[in-house]
Amino acid sequence: MLVAGRPMRSLWPAPARDALHVIDQRRLPHELVAARLTGVAEAARAIREMWVRGAPLIGATAAYGLALQCRVDAGDAALQRAAAELGATRPTAVNLQWALQRMLARLLPLAPLARAEAAWVEADAIADADVAANAAIGRHGLAWLRTLRPRDGRRLNLLTHCNAGWLATVDWGTALAPVYAAQAAGLEVHVWVDETRPRNQGASLSAWELAQQRVPHTLVADNAGGHLMQRGRVDAVIVGCDRVAANGDVCNKIGTYLKALAARANGVPFMVAMPLSTLDLGLPDGAAVPIEERSAREVTHVHGRGPDGAAVEVQIAPYGCAAANPAFDVTPAALVDGLITERGIVAADGAALRRLGQPA
Ligand code: MRU
Repeated sequence: MLVAGRPMRSLWPAPARDALHVIDQRRLPHELVAARLTGVAEAARAIREMWVRGAPLIGATAAYGLALQCRVDAGDAALQRAAAELGATRPTAVNLQWALQRMLARLLPLAPLARAEAAWVEADAIADADVAANAAIGRHGLAWLRTLRPRDGRRLNLLTHCNAGWLATVDWGTALAPVYAAQAAGLEVHVWVDETRPRNQGASLSAWELAQQRVPHTLVADNAGGHLMQRGRVDAVIVGCDRVAANGDVCNKIGTYLKALAARANGVPFMVAMPLSTLDLGLPDGAAVPIEERSAREVTHVHGRGPDGAAVEVQIAPYGCAAANPAFDVTPAALVDGLITERGIVAADGAALRRLGQPA
């Protein structure tokens, strides 16, 4: 996407192929700063500590992490160890395991001396395929948006949760790709951006990237969505996903399920943008998705910038208050009106997903 008029991806390998650059997303929206990752441990740390986040971007980062490993030791044992270290960073988004398995399947049959070069080529292919898939999701999503009639008679009002924009992918985003496609096509859209407590990916990332692209948007507290839908101020909900099970159950950022319930109760279409790298046909339904439990401190404290521009963390709960922090939830397939994929829009049901799982 364009940032300050210049094209930018959320990650890019160093020309010398000795490092991976990523945007340190912990510092947005206040600062746009890149971090240079030079080895597996750094790549794993960047994923675990959420310098990079979002299912497709986690997968691409892990792929480059294995390429970095190949520079040091490309032997079978070292590669398996590196894949295990990267794979243990975050449990929910299936793209992480998907990308690691794809890399290992490509590299292990090769002689160790041939692996380093092949690893960069394969990681680049994963990154480029993500960009192409998201662009296609944008096109299919735009075609669907064109079928909607704005309830306010003026412009389409879409609601999104978390950040499933270009920052969550290599480029374009998943849920926001149709929004960017709509804007490019001259279709008027406005986006309600859920703040997405506890880490506020909506407030800090989606609001930032929509502003960069000059897409009209309004930040709302997570609890506002039901009210907005009830008053006819939302034409559709579009979210991303971290894992979709074989029956169409959708795992995404905590709070997504409540939005889906409110959407169904108010006759608002609830759509999920799903690249095929996020489909897990090995899981029968959403009950088996491993849900990441993150630090209670993300709930009891909030981060921001003080008036002097310095990063601050403030406590909002009583000292010693117990807190739980499940980071994802599962929306049952029955509440999902459609999955926007790179191969078109499909129903969230087992038969449609099995067909999608076949090679194109
Ligand atoms: O915890 P995060 O920020 O990695 O969670 C991201 C989300 O839940 C996104 O909505 C999802 O990964 C889709 S990203 C295209």
